[in-house]
Amino acid sequence: MLLLNINQNHINMRKICFLTALVAVALLSGCKSQPKEPSALDVIMTRTSIRSFTGDPVTQDQLETILKAGMAAPSAINLQPWKFVVMTDKDKIAGTFGNNPRGADMFTKAGAVIVVCGDTSSMFWFEDCSAAAENILLAAHALNLGAVWTAGYPAQDRVKPVSEALNLPENIVPLCIIPVGVPAEDPQPKDKWNPSNIHYEKW
Ligand SMILES: Cc1cc2nc3c(=O)[nH]c(=O)nc-3n(C[C@H](O)[C@H](O)[C@H](O)COP(=O)(O)O)c2cc1C
Repeated sequence: MLLLNINQNHINMRKICFLTALVAVALLSGCKSQPKEPSALDVIMTRTSIRSFTGDPVTQDQLETILKAGMAAPSAINLQPWKFVVMTDKDKIAGTFGNNPRGADMFTKAGAVIVVCGDTSSMFWFEDCSAAAENILLAAHALNLGAVWTAGYPAQDRVKPVSEALNLPENIVPLCIIPVGVPAEDPQPKDKWNPSNIHYEKW
C-alpha cells in the first residue's frame, strides 16, 4: 500500500512538472511571436501627419477597418451625417488631385484617398465629420499606415473642384481629403503639450 502511494505521488509530481514546463514554453513563445499591441493612448500620442507614400496599395480590409473607425465617431443625436468617397484608382486620383499645387505626390502616391463629406442638412455635420476624420487618421496610424488631413470645407477653392470632380450632390460637402498609404517618411510626432492652454475651474 505504502509503495503504491509513493509511486502515485511520483507520477503526479512528474505530471505537474511537465504541465508547468508546457505552460512556460507556451508563454515564452507567445511573448516572442506576438509584439505588444499599442494602446489607444500610444496611437493617439504617436500619430503624426504623413505626406509621403511609397505608392503601395492599401488593402480592402485595411480600408474597411479605417472606415469603420470613422463611423464609430460620436455624432449629435447620433445622426451620423458623414459620407465617404473612397478612391483607389490611381488614374482617377491623379485626375482629381494631380494638379494640387501643395503637393500632388501626396495624393498620387497614396494607396487610397478618402474624401470625408458631410450632409449639411444636419446641424452639427461639421463637428460630427471632424470626429470621424480624426478617427480615420488614428485608425490608419494604428494599422501602420500614414495619412494626413488636407483641407476641404470651408475653403471654397478646395471644395468646388472636389465637389465637381466627384459629382457630389448639393447638400454634400467635402470636409477634408485624406490620402492614406504606406509611409515613405518617418517624422517624429510633434510635442504639443502646453499647460498654458489649460484653465482649471475658471479662466
Ligand atoms: C483643418 C485642417 C486642415 C489641414 N489642411 C492641410 C492641408 O491642406 N495640407 C497639409 O499638408 N496638411 C494639412 N493639415 C495637417 C496639419 O498641417 C497638421 O495636422 C499640423 O501641422 C500638425 O501636425 P501633425 O498632424 O503631424 O500633428 C490640416 C489639418 C487640419 C486639422
